[in-house]
Formats: sequence, structure tokens, C-alpha cells
Amino acid sequence: MDQLIITGGHPLNGSIEIAGAKNATLPELCAALLAAEPVTLTNVPALQDVRTMLRLLENMGVNVTHGDDGCVVLNAQAVANLEAPYELVKTMRASILVLGPLLARFGRARVSLPGGCAIGSRPVDQHIKGLQAMGAHIEVAHGYIEARLSDGLTRLKGARITTDMVTVTGTENFMMAAVLADGETVLENAAQEPEITDLAEMLIAMGAEIEGHGTSRIRIHGVPALTGCLHQVVADRIEAGTFLCAVGATGGDVVLRHARGDHLDAVIEKLLEAGVEVMRETDGLRVKSPGAKALVAQSFRTTEYPGFPTDMQAQFMAMNVVAKGTSTVVETIFENRFMHVQELQRLGAHITVDGKTAVIQGGAALSGAHVMATDLRASASLVIAGLVSDGETAVERVYHLDRGYDRMEVKLRGVGARIERVRA
Ligand code: UD1
Repeated sequence: MDQLIITGGHPLNGSIEIAGAKNATLPELCAALLAAEPVTLTNVPALQDVRTMLRLLENMGVNVTHGDDGCVVLNAQAVANLEAPYELVKTMRASILVLGPLLARFGRARVSLPGGCAIGSRPVDQHIKGLQAMGAHIEVAHGYIEARLSDGLTRLKGARITTDMVTVTGTENFMMAAVLADGETVLENAAQEPEITDLAEMLIAMGAEIEGHGTSRIRIHGVPALTGCLHQVVADRIEAGTFLCAVGATGGDVVLRHARGDHLDAVIEKLLEAGVEVMRETDGLRVKSPGAKALVAQSFRTTEYPGFPTDMQAQFMAMNVVAKGTSTVVETIFENRFMHVQELQRLGAHITVDGKTAVIQGGAALSGAHVMATDLRASASLVIAGLVSDGETAVERVYHLDRGYDRMEVKLRGVGARIERVRA
């Protein structure tokens, strides 16, 4: 297994290109299942999760061709296999996103219960409940979700769906199911993340009738069929946020090209309060920092968009570890998302965890050590901590990082970080 070897203590200067968003790409690849015509996506990031999703779709019979610069053409005309097998689903929870489109276009699907990051139990009960409300008959047996249309139906039917909590992939599954359903679907308590809006824009380009995306109530009027489309994947706000925190912690001056400041308001506000300068430029963000020791640690709680993203919690915490003062971080979305704390402690961080609250005594002088990545964003926090540690840090299990960051070490090296990948 690959390792990242980081020699800390170097400020970051230069410019980094932000890739297309993982969490927009994954549902958008699945949306290609909805049409019998080719769908072209551009700005698709080169990530392990994207490769896994493409393998899953190819296994179903989707024809996939790659063009230059992150262009992927998917043709789902000849889909023959309506199953998402365990072998492909186990590493990636987002595989559940094939369920809505398959049911909507083919009236049937068999999808393994998902795996993915070990950040809590992460059930899919809401997905099942919502699709049942739209007329799906669903049984869970032998580790698989077996779904078909209820007797008497020839397609899904519109419904009012109110989920118990805000769920991002749940909202996406319902949107993709509803675009081909009979009649109107209203999603209450819908997720408002930019990735939802990006998916809605793609579906609209395919001929879907959707209103209210980006708010908590989305209305969808089903149409008989969708067409192909050309869609550019929105920039990855979490990749951008990760580099904002990296520069915040190490100090330096970096331009993040294509980064969308309007998708990062909650994170940018905290960075500004901490003492990091973040400037919005025409096509990106510029971040300037005196380094973590001159920053003031910030308390925050993770919430749904537009609140502070749970996917930025670990990275911001890494900065808080070295900044001045005590901070409190409350994780409200996932019940087990502090696994990076133990590893940060190995580098010298002072953190105590009580349930969903972590208290960080800032000002730690970190010293490099061997640490183990436990999930995707935890890995990024360990890289940031390594960049500000004295001496050498080895981050193991880098495959977690590769799921969601496109060559992070290459991008960091480009702005002056001492970071190498050691191939196992
Ligand atoms: C998505 C993102 C992930 C991010 C998360 C929260 C993708 C591919 N992944 O994950 O990066 O961390 O949103 O912003 O977009 N829940 C249930 N039952 C369900 C569905 C969800 O109990 O049927 C719970 C989850 O366990 C969690 C909370 O609801 O506690 C939110 O989860 P959800 O928004 O669904 O996360 P994902 O869509 O899996």
C-alpha cells in the first residue's frame, strides 16, 4: 500500500487547479442511466471513486469513452444488467445512487447494501422509504436491496417525500427517480448542497422539469423520456476547502484556480476569523496566511449546507491543533467521525473527545510520526498536520485519500510542499 512521506515546515506558495467535484460527479455519472442517448460530462476528476463508479456502470452495459481533460461520454442505450454487485459497491457508499435511475428507467434494480468510509452506521433507510412512496416494491435480502415496481405500475409515480433528516445522496436518488415518474414529486427537507444544484442543472439539460433545487423544497414534474446532454461538473468545494486549510496551517500565498468561494462561505468565514486572508478572485480564491502559530483557533459545529460541512471538519481541526487557543468542534452529521483524532494525537495534538464534541487545546508543537489514514477526509487532515509537523511524517493507507483527491501530493508539491508518494 502506498505511503505519503511529508517533511513539514515549508510554507506553500503558487497556484493550484481545483478539480471537478467528486460528490457531483458520482450522481451525474449515474444520471446517464436515465437516457438512451449519450451524455457528455466534462471536468470529471481522476479519482478512485469515479473509476469505481465507471466500472459499476460498465458492468451494467453502459458504454464509457474517455476524452481529453476529464471528458467522459456515457451511453446507456444498451443497459442489460440491472445489478450493482457487492464487489464493486463495498468500497463506495455512493453506489446506492444507481438505485433511483435504474428504477425510474427500467422499473427494476438489485443493489448491494453499500460500504464506503467507516464514519458511522450510515443506513439507507430513507432512500428505501422515499422510493417506496413512489411506488417501488423493495425487499432487503442477502445483503441486497431488491427493488421493482409495485404490481399494476408501469413506471414510478410522483409523491410527496419528507425525509427524517437531510440526506444528500437520498435527495439525489429521489430527484433521479422523479424525473421519469408519472406526475409531480415534492421533496421536503431536501439537501441544498451545491452538488444537488449541479445535478439538477444536468437533469434539466437532459429535459427534466425541476424547480426549487438549492432550497429545502424541490418540485419535479416527471417526463416520459430524457435526452443526452453536455454538462460541466462544478468545482470541488471540499478539495478547495482542504487547500485553504493547508495554506492556513503552513502559511504562504496560494491561488486556488476555479475554486467557488460562494460554495464555501461557512468555511471562509471561520478562516477569516482565525486570521487567514481569503480573497475572492474572478476565477478562484486567493489564500494568504501567516501560518497556524499566528492564527486563533475557531470553534464550529458541522451542519448541512450552507452550514459548516462535515467533509471539512477533520481538515479544519488539523489547523486548530496548531493555532492559538482552545476550540470546540461538534460533529452533528455523523456519529463516528473523529477517527483522525487518535492519529493527530500521535503527532502531538492535544484533543479530548466526548461523544460528538472534540475539545482542542491549540498551540501544539507537532512532531512527525507514522500515522494511518482511516477515511477520506481524515487522510487529508493528516496530510495538513504532516505539513506543519517537525521532521518526517508517513501517512499510511493513502488509498483513502485517492478515493477523493486527484494527485493531492503532486498539487501540494507544485506549491512548495515536501511530500512524496512511496509506492509499496
Ligand atoms: C454525502 C456525501 C458525503 C458527506 C455527506 C454529508 C456524497 C457521495 N457523499 O454522503 O461526502 O459527508 O453527504 O454532507 O455526496 N442517513 C440515514 N438514513 C439514510 C440516509 C442518511 O440515517 O437513508 C443519515 C446518515 O447516516 C448521516 C446523515 O443521515 O448521519 C446524513 O447522511 P447523507 O447526507 O445521506 O450522507 P451521504 O449522502 O451518504
